[in-house]
Amino acid sequence: MATHCNPDRIAAAAAVDEARLWSRLVEFGEIGAIGGGGVCRLALSDEELAARRYIAGWAHSRGHRVFVDAVANLFVRREGTDPAAAPVITGSHIDTQPQGGRFDGAYGVIAGLEALAALDEAAVQTRRPIEVVAWTNEEGVRFTPGAMGSMVFSGALALSDIAGRRGSDGVPLSGALASALAATPQATFRQTVRPIAAYVEAHIEQGPELEAKGIPIGVVEGIQGVRWFDVDVVGSGAHAGTTPLARRRDAFQDALRIVNALNEWTSDPGDVLRFTVGHVEVTPNSRNTVPARARLGIDLRHPDAGVLREKGDRIAAIAAGAARHCEVCVREVFTKAPATFDRQVIDTIETAARLLRIPSLRMPSGAFHDALFLNDLCPTGMIFIPCERGISHDPAENITAAQAAAGARVLAATLVALAD
Ligand code: GLV
Ligand code: MN
Ligand code: MN
Repeated sequence: MATHCNPDRIAAAAAVDEARLWSRLVEFGEIGAIGGGGVCRLALSDEELAARRYIAGWAHSRGHRVFVDAVANLFVRREGTDPAAAPVITGSHIDTQPQGGRFDGAYGVIAGLEALAALDEAAVQTRRPIEVVAWTNEEGVRFTPGAMGSMVFSGALALSDIAGRRGSDGVPLSGALASALAATPQATFRQTVRPIAAYVEAHIEQGPELEAKGIPIGVVEGIQGVRWFDVDVVGSGAHAGTTPLARRRDAFQDALRIVNALNEWTSDPGDVLRFTVGHVEVTPNSRNTVPARARLGIDLRHPDAGVLREKGDRIAAIAAGAARHCEVCVREVFTKAPATFDRQVIDTIETAARLLRIPSLRMPSGAFHDALFLNDLCPTGMIFIPCERGISHDPAENITAAQAAAGARVLAATLVALAD
């Protein structure tokens, strides 16, 4: 990297305004606020559409152009001196878990907007355009798969293959996307962007390491792989008071047998393999009726592609073998192999932190991010900041204004370097 851009990187980082960034994060966290400091802003919900309007309104007030694509990914563009040059993209997602926090995803988008403001105020001109993106439906709660926007953008998923899907609330995805496009009329429709010079995503760590070590910046080297399975267990409904055990086909009892068998199959004394049953549905979910159906939502993760393949490939057979009375159907609804980020982007982030005299640590990511899919498209990296007690996907998720600002400074300096 040319050293002549050092002053620009330092000037851009210095123009990051901690108070402004924090007040925006707080304001943004009020969109879809729930009790206990949390946020419920499910993908393409009314709350998430309000968050889109907030971003588009901010961009408009600062004279940036806004673009949107068919899967409703929303882009804010700061022009470079060479408008034809491939852009550098930063950002994250603005949807949350049902009982989510204020910073998972939102931090990366708002930090990206702060970086654009800082570049403006420091009068830093970059050769490449810089775009801040809010990817659609990273969390995968209301619609599957997660990381939907970045999957479609990167070509890992065809929108036509999922357009017929419905959300967990029965709303068709196609209708929800149309509402999202209508929510930001100032955005110009854009099919796709190619090539992309680089992608860098700022995010809270969602784990305890940075806080425990007192290090403000994580330079992410890669992301572990993930596989999601839906397990449908189909039995028969019956009266809870009158039906002898021998005549029951209790879907929930078989679901428990399946979970026990899978716990055994995925047990890992080293605690590297992550197996979670985070979603359980019991139908009809009535105390005095033997459950006729059960659905389990499984999340399986490991940094080694071979282990993830071996462990995931046997899930259907183990589930079928564990059920005593019911039929079992297993569908894989989301898969991504582990990713290793681009060496040069990693170096650029690390160099930016060093230049700004902010201590950093190289680390892997246990959570997945949109960067997982961008990594297949262009040189990609991520910047982590600590979060309180490593908690996320919960209203207790928290960061400090100083931690937010440190991440935005490193992001601003990194963008300047990548866009030079
Ligand atoms: C992202 O939210 C993940 O589940 O890792
Ligand atoms: Mn996230
Ligand atoms: Mn998340």
